[in-house]
This record gives sequence, C-alpha cells and structure tokens, in this order.
Amino acid sequence: MIGVFDSGVGGLTALRELRRLRPDLDLIYYADTAHLPYGTRSPDTLLRYARRSVTALARMGVEGVLVACGTVSSVVLPRLQRELSLPLWGVVEPAVQMAWHRSRSKRIGVLGTAATVRSRAFERGLSALGSAVTVSRACPLFVSLAENGFTAPTDPVAQAAVAHYLAPMRAAEVDTLILGCTHFPLLAGAISRFLPRVTLVGAGEASAAALCAAQPRVGHGELAVFATDDPQALASQAERILGGHLPCPVRLAPTCKDL
Ligand code: DGL
Repeated sequence: MIGVFDSGVGGLTALRELRRLRPDLDLIYYADTAHLPYGTRSPDTLLRYARRSVTALARMGVEGVLVACGTVSSVVLPRLQRELSLPLWGVVEPAVQMAWHRSRSKRIGVLGTAATVRSRAFERGLSALGSAVTVSRACPLFVSLAENGFTAPTDPVAQAAVAHYLAPMRAAEVDTLILGCTHFPLLAGAISRFLPRVTLVGAGEASAAALCAAQPRVGHGELAVFATDDPQALASQAERILGGHLPCPVRLAPTCKDL
C-alpha cells in the first residue's frame, strides 16, 4: 500500500496517473485540506504539516509515501526524510529528468508555488544535468483556480490568470514547461492554449511514472481517500478530476496533533 499526499486536490494528478499506469496498486490518498494552501507557508510550518500527514499515513500501514506536492518536495523533503524511517518519494527529481529529456532547446520554464520558486529546487536539479536556460514563475492563483474548478481551457478567469503568469515564458521562448505544483496540470488545457508549442511536464505525473517503474509489488487496486477537513468537498472535486464516481467514500483523516 502506497500513500499519496498533498495539501488538496493537486496530488490527484499523481494519483490519476498512478491508477492509469498501475491499476493494481493499493493506494491511500491523503489531502491536508485543513491547511491548504501550502505554497505560502514557511519551511517550519510546512515541515510540521507534512510530518503530521506522513506520520498519519505511516500509522495506516503504508510502505512508502509519494509526496505529491511540489512545495513539500522542494522545501522540506530532505529534512522529512532524515526524521522519518519511511521511504518518501518527491516530485522534483522525476520532473527535472523528464523535462531535461523532452527539451530540445534546453530553454525550460518552471512554474510553482511561491515557496517552491523561492527554493530554486527545480533549477538546481536542472543545472546538475547540464547547461540550460531556466525561467521560473510563482503562480499562486492557479492553486485557488484548481481548487475551485476554474480550469476549463475556455474559462475566462483561467485564461486571464494564465496570460498574466505565462507572458514571461512566451517571451523567453521556452520549449518545455515544468508544472512544478501538482495542482497546475488541472489547468493544462488553458496553459496549452496560451503556449501551444510548449511541452508540459506535470510534476505529479512524472513522479507517478517514476514510482511505477520502480514498484514491483502487485496489489488489488484498492483505494482509500482521506481529507483533514471537509471530506465532502474533496469527494466532489475528486469525482470531477478523476472523471467518474469515486470507488470509496472520502473520510475525515486521523491527524497526529501530538507531532
Ligand atoms: N499541490 C501543492 C504543490 O504541488 C500545494 C499547493 C498549495 O497548497 O499551495 O505545491
């Protein structure tokens, strides 16, 4: 059983890909909706929230956790890994690898939350692979748009936000764009309308693909979903994003307030 964790619906982009590639895996999705958004938090606060969520998953018996959150992966993953004995897989390295291999011009854009962009984790990963021109941009409004369903390519609110944030990517002529926040692939249609020739690399999808490739164990395709607040809201968002009826209820998550 593998845990998949994010602040809200963003990690569902990783879960969707995991279930597409490996329908046999047993998965628990854990959304820390009580503390959304993560992208504006300080490293210490992020560490506290992530520690509680990952520990809650560990107590449910998962064998490892896909940290399907660009912010936690960029800012506190090494600290979290040092503290916890459980295997934790982040989204930065798989997204960087995929973007590097897909980019021809090595002009690569990075979108993320404010905390992710400040950390420069994706840029560090890219520069470890070779010489690339990178342009990064924090897009905090994308998280709210994704959480509230303003994601259709023709939605005027989504289009205005995309044009506002992505004008520098167009000017920099990037050929590949890392969606370094797992919420952002939910806006992929609107982003591709604005940057039609640019290859999009979703951090959640890239990490799901990397994890599947390294996951020999077969399960029964079971799914459980937890939210730390308002499970009903997550249930309807998840049905919209996963495209269909959820095979399980969304339950209120056990929290580890002692941590
Ligand atoms: N989906 C998360 C990320 O990848 C968190 C976004 C947020 O809560 O601000 O960064």
